[in-house]
Amino acid sequence: MKDILVFKPLPSDQMARLHAAHHVVVADPKLAPDAFHAALATAHGLIGASYPITAELLAKAPRLEVVSSVSVGVDNYDLAELRRLGIMLCHTPGVLDETVADTVFGLLVATSRRFVELSNLVREGRWPRDFGEDLFGFDVHGKTLGLVGFGRIGQAIARRAALGFGMRVLYHARREVDLAAQAPELQGRASHVARGELLAAADFVVAMLPLTDATRGTMDANFFGAMKPGAVFINGGRGATVDENALLASLNSGRLRAAGLDVFAQEPLPWESALRTHPRVTPLPHIGSATHETRHAMAVLATTNLLQALAGERPAAVYGD
Ligand code: DGY
Repeated sequence: MKDILVFKPLPSDQMARLHAAHHVVVADPKLAPDAFHAALATAHGLIGASYPITAELLAKAPRLEVVSSVSVGVDNYDLAELRRLGIMLCHTPGVLDETVADTVFGLLVATSRRFVELSNLVREGRWPRDFGEDLFGFDVHGKTLGLVGFGRIGQAIARRAALGFGMRVLYHARREVDLAAQAPELQGRASHVARGELLAAADFVVAMLPLTDATRGTMDANFFGAMKPGAVFINGGRGATVDENALLASLNSGRLRAAGLDVFAQEPLPWESALRTHPRVTPLPHIGSATHETRHAMAVLATTNLLQALAGERPAAVYGD
């Protein structure tokens, strides 16, 4: 029996799996920091999400063998320190792709058709008798989508765009994807292009980048300045890949028509952020994978990863495999 520290609540069926095999402590570092730090001292395994696991914290966990994140993104973890200490990091790829793609595509449609703003008119009793063109949106179907980042989730968004909405799909990624092998339904429907070509042509630019040293702040004034005038920007990856001041400047100058954002450099979004109230921004509280089905599937995979690692087996989803 080993010691497990659960640092973000898990569904009861997954807690039961952990309790059946190990000694389990639940301590949310945001709510119970003392209990969390005390449990770190003996923990062999950590499981949770949405909290930075820094080198300083890892130094307080001398027995730690594995960290199992209930997320696909791993930007909350000090990867170099985990590697140096020989601690395994697991995550939850695959099980959330379709749900995140639903969220991002929904945000794209909502932003272009102004769903939130217009729904608020109805709620506030301001449905104008004369619904004029000042309240019209722009079509999504038949337009050009530019995907910055073309992993599994990007490909799932591309399928919705190409097969459901008749959109032309361009993507930019470090390497061209072998569509015949990885996404045959997108063959002839999605093209790998240079970033500049994508930005100049896309009516909708959707960013799906992980946060790394190479992507931090890369969507900057040059990036937005290269976008087609009147285009819409959507971010479903990580907030800190965007220079938010540059995004605001592009919205305010009228270069960008609108932005739909599920992620922000700081979350929750600070009260004083101009992105919170900007009339042409549709903000969401990082809900990409937040459905009952998918969050449960993520918890199952993360629990399985942890139990496998503590049993000395190779887990299903080790980060970097
Ligand atoms: C992840 O798993 O990294 C997502 O951002 C959660 O929605």
